[in-house]
Amino acid sequence: MGIGNRKLISILFTCIGRRVSLLNSFRRAARKLKVNASFFGTDTTALSSALQLCDKRFLVKPITHAGYIKQLLTIVKTNRVKLLVPTVDLDLKLLAQNKPKFAAMGCCVLVSTPEVVDICQDKRKTYSFLIKNGFDTPVTMSIRAALSKKKLNWPCFLKPWDGYASRGNAAVNNRKELLFFAGRIPNCIVQEFIKGTEHTCDVYVDFSLKVRCVVPRKRIEVRAGEVSKSQVVKHPAIMREAARLVEKLGAGPGVITLQLFLTGDDKVKFIEINPRFGGGVPLSIKAGANFPKWILQELLASKVNIRFDGFKDNLIMLRYDGEVWIENFKSKENKR
Ligand SMILES: Nc1ncnc2c1ncn2[C@@H]1O[C@H](COP(=O)(O)OP(=O)(O)O)[C@@H](O)[C@H]1O
Ligand SMILES: [Mg+2]
Repeated sequence: MGIGNRKLISILFTCIGRRVSLLNSFRRAARKLKVNASFFGTDTTALSSALQLCDKRFLVKPITHAGYIKQLLTIVKTNRVKLLVPTVDLDLKLLAQNKPKFAAMGCCVLVSTPEVVDICQDKRKTYSFLIKNGFDTPVTMSIRAALSKKKLNWPCFLKPWDGYASRGNAAVNNRKELLFFAGRIPNCIVQEFIKGTEHTCDVYVDFSLKVRCVVPRKRIEVRAGEVSKSQVVKHPAIMREAARLVEKLGAGPGVITLQLFLTGDDKVKFIEINPRFGGGVPLSIKAGANFPKWILQELLASKVNIRFDGFKDNLIMLRYDGEVWIENFKSKENKR
C-alpha cells in the first residue's frame, strides 16, 4: 500500500514528560499497521525528553490553570486529533469530566468516567470499593479510628489518601511514631502493613469496556516511585482477580494499572488502581501485549485479535537513562 492510500491520524499525549518508550511503541505499532500517524505532545516546558521527540510540540499551561482544558480543546480542534492519551494522574479528572467535549470534535480520550477516576484517586474510596466487592486489600482507616483502637498490629503503613509516586509514605512501629508521622503527612490514612511480593498489572480494556488481557509483572526494583527492574509473571489468580476488579469498576477504555501484593499464603491484596498507562508498561508491550496496536486498531475500527494470556512469561525489563539532545536552544523559559 502506498503512502497516499494510508489513513492519516493524529494522536496527542498530554503531560508527555519522559514517556519516550511509550511514544516509540505507538510509532512502531502505527508503522506495522501501515497507519500514517502523527504524534503530538503537550508539556509545560520544552525541556521534556518525550516532547522533543514528537512531530508537533505544544507548550501548555499547568493543569491547575483555569484555561488548561480550553487549550487542549483548541489543539485537538486545529490539528484534528483523533486520540488523546493521558500519561499521568494529574489531568485525569479534568479529562474525564470534559470527555464529551472532545468526543464532539471526533477525539477519543483514553480515560475512564469521572466516577471511576474519583474512586481511584481517593484511597479511602478505593478501599470501600474493594471491600464492598469482595476483593482482598489491607485494612484501611483514618488516624482517629486507628488511635481509638485498643490494639493495632505493628507496623502500620501511613500514606496520603490522595498521594502519588510514593510521596509521604511511612511505616510506623508504635503509637508514638504514628502520632509523629500523622502530623507531618497531609491527608494521612493508616493501613495494615503488608508483607509480600509487590506486583503491578497492566489491564487492557477495549472500547466496549471489556477486559481483554491482563499482564502481571513483579516489581523487582523501584526508583523514584517508578519501576526500574521488573519481570512478567503469568499468575492465573492475579490475572483472574485483576480482570474481575477492572470489570466491576467499569474502568477504561485503555490500559488500567493495578498494584497489589502477593502474600506468602498466595493471597492477592490490591493496594492501588491507576486508570492510565503505568510507567512500567513497556515491559508488557515488549512481552507481546501490544496495547498501542490494539488501541490503534480499535480506533480505526479494524479487526483486533487479543488473547487474554497472549504474552511471554518471565520476560525481564532492566531500565536505564537515555539522552535526548537539543541544539541551539533559545527560550525565555530557560533564563534565570
Ligand atoms: N499497606 C501497605 N503495606 C506495605 N507497603 C505498602 C502498603 N501500601 C503501600 N505500600 C508501598 O508504598 C508504595 C506506594 O503506595 P501506593 O498505595 O501505591 O501509593 P502511591 O503510588 O499513590 O504513592 C507501594 O508501591 C508499596 O511499595
Ligand atoms: Mg502506587
